[in-house]
Amino acid sequence: MSDNSFVTYEPATGAEILRVAVSDIDECVARARRACPEWAMLPLANRMELMRRFANHVRKVADEFAELIARETGKPLWEARTEVDAVVGKVEISINSYAERTGSKKLDNALQGRAAVRHKPHGVMAVLGPYNFPAHLPNGHIVPALIAGNVVIFKPSEKTPAVGAFLVDCFHKAGIGEDVIQLAIGAVEEGKALVSHRDIDGVLFTGSVQAGVAINRALATNPAKIVALEMGGNNPVVVIDTPMLADAATLIVQSAFTTAGQRCTAARRLIVLDHLYDPLMAELLKLTERLIVDEPFADPQPFMGPVIDNRTAEMLLESFVHLLTHGGKPLMNLKRLRDGLPFLSPGIIDTTAMDERPDVELFGPILQVVKVPDFDSAIAEANNTRFGLSASLIGGGPDDFERFWNSIRAGIINWNRPTNGASSAQPFGGVGLSGNHRPAAYYAADYCAYPVASTEMEQPRAAIHIGLTQR
Ligand code: NAD
Ligand code: SIN
Repeated sequence: MSDNSFVTYEPATGAEILRVAVSDIDECVARARRACPEWAMLPLANRMELMRRFANHVRKVADEFAELIARETGKPLWEARTEVDAVVGKVEISINSYAERTGSKKLDNALQGRAAVRHKPHGVMAVLGPYNFPAHLPNGHIVPALIAGNVVIFKPSEKTPAVGAFLVDCFHKAGIGEDVIQLAIGAVEEGKALVSHRDIDGVLFTGSVQAGVAINRALATNPAKIVALEMGGNNPVVVIDTPMLADAATLIVQSAFTTAGQRCTAARRLIVLDHLYDPLMAELLKLTERLIVDEPFADPQPFMGPVIDNRTAEMLLESFVHLLTHGGKPLMNLKRLRDGLPFLSPGIIDTTAMDERPDVELFGPILQVVKVPDFDSAIAEANNTRFGLSASLIGGGPDDFERFWNSIRAGIINWNRPTNGASSAQPFGGVGLSGNHRPAAYYAADYCAYPVASTEMEQPRAAIHIGLTQR
């Protein structure tokens, strides 16, 4: 890898996937600036039509797109296909959301004229994406931003630039200008250069809390720039009384291990009532042992693939050892399954006896279990985190869920559903270290445009009734 280019590799095989030059950020921003007025002035209906063409193009290349996502992330092909579906689905959702949340309103008032609220785009938006959903999540910023009339510079994760390039190419093939949506290839340095560039108007970020906080800090003296931060979580799933322990175990496995645990909404902590611990653990271990971990294209299809790279696998293994050596009791060991490749088996560890449980996001297939005596303690334990992205309650009745909903600090609070698998038709975001109150998904329209209030009259008719001398 030379200084101004980099190479990415398939996690599942180690094969080279892309060798690409780093972009010149100043040049990207200058091109975006020049493209701004024309795109913003294009009628909304035309921008929407172009987005629909984009969706149609993605439909046409769906197989190729899903294969690339599977190769570059290591996620199973079946799952990569769902990511492509989400990219297509985002277009109609964003069109509806724009109309509902940021459309225009007019109120006639004969004497005062007409009161109008309309929205304007911010200008040039930088979109920074993570590797776990390299198409769906950045697309969730890009489509609403383009609909609102912004131009976009998208810097994909340095771990998934090939998917980023494919996504941007789909916009271009749909007829959207090359300067209206640009790809910026680079790693953290290029991300920093883009974020702090004086000529961008906003940053739409999905990624880790470390990077999100760094971006927030870098823009602290620029209050005019829009900063939407979607970050990680240390998400709890709480199990209270239910006769359906096998289903509970399935929901826990889906929450903790889908995408090899590389979902921001993945359950990291299972909090369970004392008297349910033994039977629930028996179900959970039985099911987890059956999970197939394999290459994305393997037959039969795996439940999960590798984690993104060897460095991440090492970091997760070290974190598991840290938990073990600080009072954790292993229920299922996290293990490397293939030499030199980042395939990990799911790890489950009881951390009830730990004096201090680290409140960090372990972004991989590790589930920590905490045993508690009652529902109150379960809620207190669930809230024992600086993050606040997602939380689920399994079991109980409507009153229990109401209490859970009222007490838990999180942007997503589910009942008898997994912590992950969030719908794009709902707002998506967290509190605490998980986000900055600019939720994405359905509410992305809100941060892509600003409202302008006007009062308007066809003629400049005016009179001063008080405070004038007699003529
Ligand atoms: P990351 O934070 O390492 O990188 C995300 C992007 O930010 C990349 O493009 C990277 O190059 C860039 N970046 C990193 N540091 C930067 C800085 N200081 N300034 C500017 N840009 C910078 O994230 P990742 O490892 O690719 O993705 C995994 C993380 O993303 C997890 O923490 C996960 O929870 C989070 N995530 C959050 C959501 C959500 O919507 N809340 C969704 C998916 C993933
Ligand atoms: C994610 O973006 O990582 C999670 C989306 C989800 O599965 O809820």
